Amino acid sequence: MFVMKQITLPLIGFITSFIITISSGWPIVNENNINVVSLNIENANTGQIIPSTMHGVILETNVNRDDDGGLYAELVYNRAFQEKGQSLDGWSSFGQGSIALSPFQPLSSALPVHLRYSLIEKSISPSGFRNNGFYGINIQAQNYTASFFYRALGEAYVAGGELSIGFSDSTGQIIYGISTIDVSVAPVDKWFPFSFTIPVLNGTSSVKNFFFIKFPPGSKGDFEFNLVSCFPPTYKNRVNGARIDIAQAFADLKPGYVRLPGGNDLEGLTIPERFIWNNTVGLLENRPGRRGTWTGYNTEGFGLIELFTFVEDIGATPVLAVYAGYSLDGKAVPQDELQPYIDEVIKELDFLTASASNNSMGVLRERLGRSQPFDIKYVEIGNEDIFAADSYSYRWPAFYNALSQRYPNITFIATTTKSINTPPAVDDHDYQVPLFFIENFRRYENIPRPSPKVLVGEFSVINDDDSKISNPFGAGRLDYPSIKSAVAESIYRIGFERNSDIIIGGCYAPVLQNIFNTQWTPNLIVFNTSSVVKSTSYLAQKMFGQNLGNIILNSTATNSSFTHQSVQKGQEGDGKLGNLYFVATKLTHESTLILKLVNADSNDTYVRVQVQGTTLCCEGFMEILTAGSGVDPTTVHNTISNPNAASIYRRPFWSINGAFSITVPSWSVMVVTLPL
Ligand SMILES: *[C@@H]1O[C@H](CO)[C@@H](O)[C@H](O)[C@H]1NC(C)=O
Ligand SMILES: *[C@@H]1O[C@H](CO)[C@@H](O)[C@H](O)[C@H]1NC(C)=O
Ligand SMILES: *[C@@H]1O[C@H](CO)[C@@H](O)[C@H](O)[C@H]1NC(C)=O
Ligand SMILES: *[C@@H]1O[C@H](CO)[C@@H](O)[C@H](O)[C@H]1NC(C)=O
Ligand SMILES: *[C@@H]1O[C@H](CO)[C@@H](O)[C@H](O)[C@H]1NC(C)=O
Ligand SMILES: *[C@@H]1O[C@H](CO)[C@@H](O)[C@H](O)[C@H]1NC(C)=O
Ligand SMILES: *[C@@H]1O[C@H](CO)[C@@H](O)[C@H](O)[C@H]1NC(C)=O
Ligand SMILES: *[C@@H]1O[C@H](CO)[C@@H](O)[C@H](O)[C@H]1NC(C)=O
Ligand SMILES: *[C@@H]1O[C@H](CO)[C@@H](O)[C@H](O)[C@H]1NC(C)=O
Repeated sequence: MFVMKQITLPLIGFITSFIITISSGWPIVNENNINVVSLNIENANTGQIIPSTMHGVILETNVNRDDDGGLYAELVYNRAFQEKGQSLDGWSSFGQGSIALSPFQPLSSALPVHLRYSLIEKSISPSGFRNNGFYGINIQAQNYTASFFYRALGEAYVAGGELSIGFSDSTGQIIYGISTIDVSVAPVDKWFPFSFTIPVLNGTSSVKNFFFIKFPPGSKGDFEFNLVSCFPPTYKNRVNGARIDIAQAFADLKPGYVRLPGGNDLEGLTIPERFIWNNTVGLLENRPGRRGTWTGYNTEGFGLIELFTFVEDIGATPVLAVYAGYSLDGKAVPQDELQPYIDEVIKELDFLTASASNNSMGVLRERLGRSQPFDIKYVEIGNEDIFAADSYSYRWPAFYNALSQRYPNITFIATTTKSINTPPAVDDHDYQVPLFFIENFRRYENIPRPSPKVLVGEFSVINDDDSKISNPFGAGRLDYPSIKSAVAESIYRIGFERNSDIIIGGCYAPVLQNIFNTQWTPNLIVFNTSSVVKSTSYLAQKMFGQNLGNIILNSTATNSSFTHQSVQKGQEGDGKLGNLYFVATKLTHESTLILKLVNADSNDTYVRVQVQGTTLCCEGFMEILTAGSGVDPTTVHNTISNPNAASIYRRPFWSINGAFSITVPSWSVMVVTLPL
């Protein structure tokens, strides 16, 4: 419910009071228990540079069914019968006839089995088979793009020559959309591709629906099908593309980078089941896929080009992770057998970055529809090799020496420094309690310079109980991020921005969770078959991603105990004062101040801000994420059943001569933007 009311707030604080109209959702400030802080910001047009990559995302493929059954918009589950070690899982027949798996003259070597539909006698009623989708099928009034490979064996015939393909409810009685396809054009005993549109005029809120292929009465014989596929409209209308609502949730974060394809899924369960880039490009019928690292089967329909195109479509920088000779069964490729794996990565990088005019991999990319090379600035070699440090001691130098020589413009990121010497960059991962991130606010400023660059490739609060700091994976593991989680993560993020001389960027992980198939919690974005829920941590990261300056402004915070002149670098007043954490930045091309404030105090904090060297009177905006005064921040989560428990509030304020005052509520994340 959205109710407007008039209230008085100390908007420009010590100058005057001001009446504005705001929505009733605005948190009410408890003015009795309040800390008072003065924040002094020096306006400038130069300063420490903040890279655009600062706040990113990871596409850890396969976990929580995030690509197949998630971001990848394919609606047909088990479309090539690869699930559960080759099966008909998800498929069933109706009317007469039966379905079976057949290995007989497969469509391709990559897809060795297919579905055979057999009508032993002439059918007397509409008959066929159907698929229940990944946890149902979302049917809306729009056009769907369907396709399959078809083969009629020997004397088989379809009465009238036409199949009906469409969507129905679970009873099969309600048809939401249907298309008739003349299959008589297909030569007997030969695989033949069909693709067509299924228009839906009326959608349904239920997802208990089926995709069906129906034979008219009077048909008889054996009919074979493979790669039975159906897509709704996709993000940016890409063929073989992304589910729009999930893709849009990614895009709305304005992520600086996307790390892909993993994560553990890069490594695979065994060495042959690693991410093999060339198996993920080209025609879908030539992509074998592989056993999922976390769940189900990886079709790799959303392969390397689809992933990179998606990253481009959301305006992010790719951070490509490449396989480095170690898989999750604990086996490492021996030192004297590494070369083919290094060559594989060279081909992958050539494929993505080489000119199409004089490189065979560049030519292949162009042949697959993409002539322009992709721009790759960061490549991570391996994943979490802290668990395989013994062999990383030879694997890292072998890969790094070969790759850095060939790609001098790429920054290579190591996954640990446990067994190697000063790499150009390293990826840190932290799954922890709020207190860990709060206490480690100065972690990156305490690293002596010069230092390798740092990608905080994965971090998140996974347990809100600070006493579990030595084992956050145990009791109290969160299902969903809370406001307290979001506050602690935001404090860590302020540390990233303040240390942007070495931090490439950081990312909450994992990002996506299909509520029906979850291996890991908590996650940034939770979805079911028809909806997306944005967690509290998502909202906080979005505030940071959408409001990114390009330089740091000097700022100091004081209270009545000491002066701005007495603030020492790395001490109280620099980046934090008590439980208030802050970073002042500027977007120089727009001349906008972007001030981030996070309050990890149980009381509100009243902040008097003075920006030096500005005389204008300007309207600014503040955005805030909070549980509300007096509300326990561990109790507020956005969940599937309560998706909007917390949201970002936005309101205007005025500054005069660079001065304004704001109340930062207890346990809150705030972003202030002001033209300078
Ligand atoms: C918060 O306010 C209460 C009530 O005034 C006070 O007892 C408490 O000390 C304050 N807490 C902090 C951290 O300042
Ligand atoms: C579906 O496709 C038909 C035929 O191309 C077109 O006329 C119609 O506008 C499309 N409907 C939607 C919702 O895009
Ligand atoms: C289906 O949608 C059309 C167009 O939006 C509308 O005119 C019609 O009434 C709907 N039919 C049903 C059964 O809801
Ligand atoms: C991919 O490359 C490997 C060698 O690196 C080769 O064995 C395999 O056949 C290739 N796969 C495809 C689909 O080309
Ligand atoms: C390949 O072509 C690119 C651009 O056309 C050029 O910059 C590069 O030097 C060429 N490389 C070789 C090995 O010829
Ligand atoms: C590296 O970057 C420089 C400067 O942008 C460019 O001239 C050069 O061609 C690049 N080298 C390679 C191998 O891409
Ligand atoms: C910011 O602080 C640094 C270190 O104290 C100083 O070198 C620099 O001149 C200051 N920048 C501005 C704009 O005052
Ligand atoms: C000022 O901040 C310092 C550092 O957090 C704190 O120790 C001190 O108690 C504060 N003084 C007042 C008057 O709030
Ligand atoms: C999907 O999630 C949305 C939003 O939380 C909810 O309204 C809807 O009922 C859920 N649908 C199913 C099938 O669980």
